[in-house]
Amino acid sequence: MKRYISIFALSLICGLAVADEGMWLPSLISERIGDMQAKGFELTAEDIYSINQASLKDAVVLFGRGCTGELISSEGLLLTNHHCGYDQIQKHSSVEHDYLRDGFWAMTREEELPNPGLTVSFLDRMEDVTDAVLAGYTGGMTEAQRDSVVKSNSAKLIEDATASGNGLRASVESMYYGNKYYMFVYRVYSDVRLVGAPPSSIGKFGGDTDNWMWPRHTGDFSIFRIYADKDNNPAPYSEDNVPYTPKRYFHIAAGGVEEGDFTFVYGFPGTTREYIMSDGVRYISELSNPHKIALRTMRLDIQRRYMDADQAVRIQYSAKNATVANAWKKWQGEMRGINRLGTVARKQAYEARFNEWAAGTEYEGVLPAMDSLYGLLEPYLFALDYYYEAPNTVEIVKFAGKVLSLAEKGTDSSLNAEVAAFFKDYCLPIDKESFIAVMNAFNDNLPDGFRPGYLDSTIAVYGSVEAWADDLFAHSAFTDREFVYALGSEDMDALYDDPAAEFGREMKSWVDNELYPEAIRLSREINLLYRDYMRGQMEFEPDRAFYPDANLTLRVAYGHIKGYAPSDGIYYLPFSTIDGIMEKDNPEIFDYNIPQRFRDVVATGDYGRWGEDGSVPVCFIATNHTSGGNSGSPVIDGKGRLIGVNFDRVWEGTMSDIEFDPDFCRNICLDIRYVLFVIDKIGGASHLIDEMTIETE
Ligand code: ARG
Ligand code: GLU
Repeated sequence: MKRYISIFALSLICGLAVADEGMWLPSLISERIGDMQAKGFELTAEDIYSINQASLKDAVVLFGRGCTGELISSEGLLLTNHHCGYDQIQKHSSVEHDYLRDGFWAMTREEELPNPGLTVSFLDRMEDVTDAVLAGYTGGMTEAQRDSVVKSNSAKLIEDATASGNGLRASVESMYYGNKYYMFVYRVYSDVRLVGAPPSSIGKFGGDTDNWMWPRHTGDFSIFRIYADKDNNPAPYSEDNVPYTPKRYFHIAAGGVEEGDFTFVYGFPGTTREYIMSDGVRYISELSNPHKIALRTMRLDIQRRYMDADQAVRIQYSAKNATVANAWKKWQGEMRGINRLGTVARKQAYEARFNEWAAGTEYEGVLPAMDSLYGLLEPYLFALDYYYEAPNTVEIVKFAGKVLSLAEKGTDSSLNAEVAAFFKDYCLPIDKESFIAVMNAFNDNLPDGFRPGYLDSTIAVYGSVEAWADDLFAHSAFTDREFVYALGSEDMDALYDDPAAEFGREMKSWVDNELYPEAIRLSREINLLYRDYMRGQMEFEPDRAFYPDANLTLRVAYGHIKGYAPSDGIYYLPFSTIDGIMEKDNPEIFDYNIPQRFRDVVATGDYGRWGEDGSVPVCFIATNHTSGGNSGSPVIDGKGRLIGVNFDRVWEGTMSDIEFDPDFCRNICLDIRYVLFVIDKIGGASHLIDEMTIETE
């Protein structure tokens, strides 16, 4: 299929140039289906979500606790991102079997690797439970009283919905700031095995250099298989389990895509805040993001120095480093996007119009009240941000807390497992240097009145953060693997006064006693007003289609494949190919060192079924509104078939969690043909492809 665009197609695309903003609830998709069909979707609302028959939702799972995955065979084969399976791949890796470096392909079912703790959740059904959740709530109640009504009603609903056991889990989620409540009932499978992953030099090609960027060439996928008991029900890992038979799995469309093609992303976006007021945006772009970025820059520099010097440390810190780097880079793009769009000023102008309209209605005074509450809340939020990015990132301190709380429960086996897992991936010099860096910033930047007394008194004793660190890391028994390992849970009491344990306890008690109570009280007051403001916005703009903010519940986002202009004089095409991989390839640069086998295959030019115009497509971008959590989500064509896997957004569009800009916001998708190419030609695992249903028309 050709990628040129005819004048006709171009005019069509321009005609479609309405914002593809929105993350819609699947059960209400009938309200959007007309628009979806007008834009190229050929199926019905029932095909997307149905409680009566198998529908596409039955082929989508929440993978772990923050990613999405999709079923691609009748035998439980599941596709997600490489970065979503990263922890699992890393845990199975050692210097001898470095699956991160070399990739992993199970050639038989017996070779598939179990992953204790990993689950996938299928959405069984979702329903509007607003009335039931608010039963017993009356107007005059405080927000705290309302919370407790909501909590106890929800608990009852959840108990009833999951009574039959069978791996059921349910949750009640607030939408539109508590104007609506939905219950989600999931079936959770816990025997999920690793089947395949490309080497990181493919799955993380471009690394953190290219992360959040376009043009992109990352083969960001990994493959798992869900196992069930003999009746296809959830069951803990057992050798007797068998591959799960899904109600529905995706057929794969390998015939190619073009600019302008309809796309639809089905997955679990985590958090967006599209309706917050200008004060909240200003806090993020002017205070929170800049400080959090600075703290992480220091930690990343330290990690990088040790990782570059030692392969063992590189393995130990690969997953941790990627996690820290990921949000760090996103916040930077988000900040720039907010500033470029002028979101704060735009929101202020909107608020002024809202206020004018609200005069004499029940919404009068809502925004001014929120504004003054924000003023009170901000220093608490700032101190909390600092807590989570500074003291709470010290590894030995978190470890001490975990060990002591496990010891209290008296389970030696989980204690030993915790100790072993911690030391497998711990590098003390990194932790100590990071402690010094972040605690100095903590000390310098926390304002009077919002500082832990323990900080000032400890620094007074030692004279400096450096001297404090010397003492803590030299004298904490938690740094001594053999010693901690030898202790039984009863002996742990002796470590109560250990400096690492004490530090963690003091910081936590500061947060729990001096920050949270007031922060929660103020947040409750603001949330109560947000409920009004949200309803007010809906009345103020009756013709606007509102979608609830993302909250890790299943959503539909639809749009089309489209390039963009990141800055003046540049236009980005929406496709990348392996030609770009070969352009970036450089054995001297870790992030761009493609495996030799890849070079060899490219040299033969034999791309099998996966080639197009003498190359292989790698990634494409589209206008779907996605967020963190959409990683691994299926990217679906107009016929409901899999054309790609979502894995990222472009840097210039990362402010879409706060404001979506149709000119800049693009999600980044792996072209399914590249996935198949890597499995087939690099992994030599064509037996997996044989399980799939591939359509080329
Ligand atoms: N940016 C993508 C996401 O938010 C990919 C993350 C992969 N991690 C990384 N550091 N490269 O999850
Ligand atoms: N990589 C992200 C994730 O892990 C998806 C990118 C985004 O935030 O849109 O969910």
